[in-house]
Amino acid sequence: PKTLSIADLRAMKQAGEKITSLTAYDASFSALLDLAGIDVILVGDSLGMVVQGHNSTLPVTIQDMAYHSRCVSNARKRAFVVADMPFASYATPAQALNNAAQLMQAGGAQMVKLEGAKTDVIEFLVEQGIPVCGHLGLLPQSVNRIGGYKVQGREPAQAQKILEDALAIEQAGAGLLVLECVPALLAAEITQNLTIPVIGIGAGSACDGQVLVLYDMLNITAGNRPRFSKNFMAEADGVSDAVKRYHHAVKNGQFPAAEHTY
Ligand code: KIV
Ligand code: NA
Repeated sequence: PKTLSIADLRAMKQAGEKITSLTAYDASFSALLDLAGIDVILVGDSLGMVVQGHNSTLPVTIQDMAYHSRCVSNARKRAFVVADMPFASYATPAQALNNAAQLMQAGGAQMVKLEGAKTDVIEFLVEQGIPVCGHLGLLPQSVNRIGGYKVQGREPAQAQKILEDALAIEQAGAGLLVLECVPALLAAEITQNLTIPVIGIGAGSACDGQVLVLYDMLNITAGNRPRFSKNFMAEADGVSDAVKRYHHAVKNGQFPAAEHTY
């Protein structure tokens, strides 16, 4: 099959077809997700926690991200591959270009994702031909500033700021936006107001697509699964079936349900 492009993802938003996404960090899961029909594979810096065993995403390096991106991009045929820019790798446009180029060239990513409304960096990368996915709401790379992994945008002023940042990120040329841990109502408003696809995680069912950390939905993450995730292994006949169940549940609008939503 032909590899999906950002134009295909935009067309899905326009057609009202939900976009399915999961994280992967290696070739075997990449191929499995691809065969299950997952549209977007995110090489998330969550690998710092679920693969490397750190208690945050901060220790992940650009070399780590390029290595895992290459493992994933080698093995998929159809899925669109997005790779995370790790902590402190995009402080200036020039630094961001140097690091994003490694994810694209060494890593084979089709798009890079960065946290926050860094519109100067986004504009510069897009100008250099590097597609960018924004990420708003809960920003795990800022966990030390926030003081924990908490829902964002509950107060009206904070919600307004997230909406304004989302519009600014689209204006800067981003091609996708991830919204993490925000009230469903705010995510719905942002999704309606943007022309680029919005992919939610803990952001309700009105987003244009959904993403989860693979190991959470396969129930192999130690500790508590976040409220917004779901154990798709519970009723599944194996890993591939769990991924297919997630894919269909998102396409049909059955996931996320109210119990996964803020
Ligand atoms: O790193 C990651 O897995 C992510 C998703 C949770 C959106 O950024
Ligand atoms: Na991430």
